[in-house]
Amino acid sequence: MAKYKKGLAFRYVQETKYYRERSPRDDLGSIPSPERFKTYRDAERVQLPQPDLTEPANLWECLAKRRSERNTSQDPLSGQELAKLLWAAQGVTARAGMYLLRTAPSAGALYPFENYIYVDRVEGVPQGIYHFDVAEFALECLQEGNFNQQITAASLGQPVVRKAAVVIIWTAMMLRCMVKYRERAVRYIAMDLGHVCQNVQLAATALGLGSCPIGAFYDNELNELLGVDGEEETVIYMVTAGKLG
Ligand SMILES: Cc1cc2nc3c(=O)[nH]c(=O)nc-3n(C[C@H](O)[C@H](O)[C@H](O)COP(=O)(O)O)c2cc1C
Repeated sequence: MAKYKKGLAFRYVQETKYYRERSPRDDLGSIPSPERFKTYRDAERVQLPQPDLTEPANLWECLAKRRSERNTSQDPLSGQELAKLLWAAQGVTARAGMYLLRTAPSAGALYPFENYIYVDRVEGVPQGIYHFDVAEFALECLQEGNFNQQITAASLGQPVVRKAAVVIIWTAMMLRCMVKYRERAVRYIAMDLGHVCQNVQLAATALGLGSCPIGAFYDNELNELLGVDGEEETVIYMVTAGKLG
């Protein structure tokens, strides 16, 4: 107990609390307005199919059946299945001025994260690492090729990652949230991504696919693979998906 109170986690939680009578500690100084979306303009693009949202799914059944599934088969996903998973994660469902509102809530509608996808096996999509362009519902190819071994090794060798047909990797865009919520932003980024991941798991359940959240990985190895700096943008969370074995 005494040790907990001397640790980083304790200090963080205590020092980012809001109190009615005083402002929270803030040593950040001014933060220039960060970009709201990341785009890789020079990347080759893969347009995703329009997700067919007319197929009914029973929400109560999906909630009851959702499970973290670690045994997926070697079968590829269809382009439609990938499109539905990504739409569930970050589909744009309304516009409010400059805000693109999505399937998942986000503190201040800032969406302080970027979606990357490692495609191992998806029909019609070359194997490789992609960035998801939310506004255009398209994939931007960062590196074509087989990165299964690197992503699995970076995920502590977890077989669930090796077996996945796709891995969605989320980075936090720290300043996009800190510009408004200052040090407290770290709490909100984690909450935001929890919502997004749950959407993906429910969509996977509705599609009869297996999915598993992944929080255990060597951060530096994944950041390097995505080509992000690990400071202002850093990997926070992942989810695997594949056909059930
Ligand atoms: C933040 C977070 C991180 C997780 N990381 C991993 C992981 O690295 N590997 C894994 O196999 N499961 C991981 N899981 C899945 C949990 O083990 C799983 O949710 C838990 O055992 C409950 O099972 P259920 O999801 O099937 O209900 C993670 C779940 C969460 C919410």
